[in-house]
Amino acid sequence: MRAPFLAVMFAVALASLPAVAGAEPQRDFQTHCSGCHQMDGSGAPKFGIPDMRHAVGHFLRLPEGRHFLVKVPGTANSPLGHADTAAMLNWMVFAFSRDEVPADFRPYTAQEVARLRGQTFHDVPGARAEIVRRLRADGLDIQ
Ligand code: HEC
Repeated sequence: MRAPFLAVMFAVALASLPAVAGAEPQRDFQTHCSGCHQMDGSGAPKFGIPDMRHAVGHFLRLPEGRHFLVKVPGTANSPLGHADTAAMLNWMVFAFSRDEVPADFRPYTAQEVARLRGQTFHDVPGARAEIVRRLRADGLDIQ
């Protein structure tokens, strides 16, 4: 019921964010990410690349999960600038996992991306496992 309203609000929020000025999130994803993640976000789970479809939006329920999507090496180490990265993540979570994005999701900003991607991240699998454990404990279906 609320999805169309949220979609409009999201579009308005995106349009008003400097982070999105001139960005082409889908093209950026294609150029920098789809080689591993596939254009539909399906990845290659057998080879350790997670399927983001109907899953990645769940991460936004936890601050650690929200941060994880920025700090994961593929995002943090891409050549994209902070604003373009924020715009791409905002596009990505809706493109692959619209139904799972929480109603109170606030779009990533360039400032948030800048702060998070600069932090050293020593244990990606361990951090993901802990986030997934907490999401499952809340009854969410995530692999
Ligand atoms: C060379 C292959 C490769 C590329 C290119 C790549 N990734 Fe990834 N990505 C991975 C792998 C492997 C994982 C699993 C965690 C890990 O080992 O980093 C992952 C995990 C992720 C996750 C976490 C998903 C989850 O369910 O845990 C996100 C979000 C993500 N990548 C975003 C991106 C974005 C955005 C880009 C492009 C800027 C990108 N990745 C480019 C291989 C890649």
